[in-house]
Amino acid sequence: MKFTKSIITGGAGFIGSNLTDTLVKNGHKVIVLDNFVSGKKSNLSHHKKSNVKVFKIDISKSKSLDKYFKGADYIFHLAGLAEIIPSIKDPKKYFINNVLGSLNVLEAAKKTKIKKLIYAASSSCYGNPKKLPISENDEIDLQHPYAVTKFMGEELIMRYANLFKMPNISFRFFNVYGPRFNNSGQYSAVIGNFLSQRRNKKPLTIVGDGKQTRDFIHVDDLTSAFLKVIKSKYVNKIYNLGSGKKTSINTIAKIFGGKKKFIPIRPGEPKNSLANISKIKKDINWKPKVSIKVGIKKLLKD
Ligand SMILES: NC(=O)c1ccc[n+]([C@@H]2O[C@H](COP(=O)([O-])OP(=O)(O)OC[C@H]3O[C@@H](n4cnc5c(N)ncnc54)[C@H](O)[C@@H]3O)[C@@H](O)[C@H]2O)c1
Repeated sequence: MKFTKSIITGGAGFIGSNLTDTLVKNGHKVIVLDNFVSGKKSNLSHHKKSNVKVFKIDISKSKSLDKYFKGADYIFHLAGLAEIIPSIKDPKKYFINNVLGSLNVLEAAKKTKIKKLIYAASSSCYGNPKKLPISENDEIDLQHPYAVTKFMGEELIMRYANLFKMPNISFRFFNVYGPRFNNSGQYSAVIGNFLSQRRNKKPLTIVGDGKQTRDFIHVDDLTSAFLKVIKSKYVNKIYNLGSGKKTSINTIAKIFGGKKKFIPIRPGEPKNSLANISKIKKDINWKPKVSIKVGIKKLLKD
């Protein structure tokens, strides 16, 4: 029987490893390409080797992507450096990883007859939005090198879709959370920070007055959108991928419970963010199911 072969770049990371789980459950054989700069082998250690093969590859350096991509049905391009402040400190590193890396992936993908390539873009391309909720056609406002490099990756994905008739899709993720959330770094996102602070019995650090809002999407809802989009007829499209609901940082802190500490605001972060998700809902008949309360309570139990 012919099985479905899927490649995940960055598959050892938070989102990539959750996507690996979903794809394997749905009968895919997965090849993970990762340089382990932030991903972990342990994120994938529960899988059988017959279902998931892991290769240590740096997509920004490797010229040998072709041999892994050969015969692939789907490519999920998630590899990237994903933090704002480090991107301001070392923009060149971010450019090489996120832009050159994406170009290498596209060049290799172009040579094989894939059914779809999905790119992990970022809602950071909207900067400080003038109105909410944000639609895909709203103004692009790139505030820091991370946002620039993720957006340049998306531009390449869409140009290649036009020029070479590649079946590409770009998902602009909003704030994704869930199991294996990367909370090791100094700059990890709010839910990751709260999780490690709670574990270490430290107060929750709230940036600014905590009234700023974000659109948090549970990783299970995100991976279900991936499954639906690969089966849909749509190609060459950009979709917002969020919950469509806004939650303040104070509300998140309240769900976690415990002591709080307020810290100064950080550069490059918007006051509010909220996705308009009507395009993806309509095109692929998807909707988010996990509420923020249920999602966090589940995380706290794990
Ligand atoms: N988590 C979010 O809320 C969010 C929001 C918007 C966009 N994204 C994007 O989604 C993707 C996955 O994010 P994540 O939260 O799972 O982060 P993550 O850091 O857990 O995962 C990124 C993975 O890519 C790997 N990687 C980085 N550079 C690489 C390279 N040059 N070659 C091979 N592998 C490389 C890392 O080792 C890691 O496993 C990233 O591209 C990120 O920009 C994430």
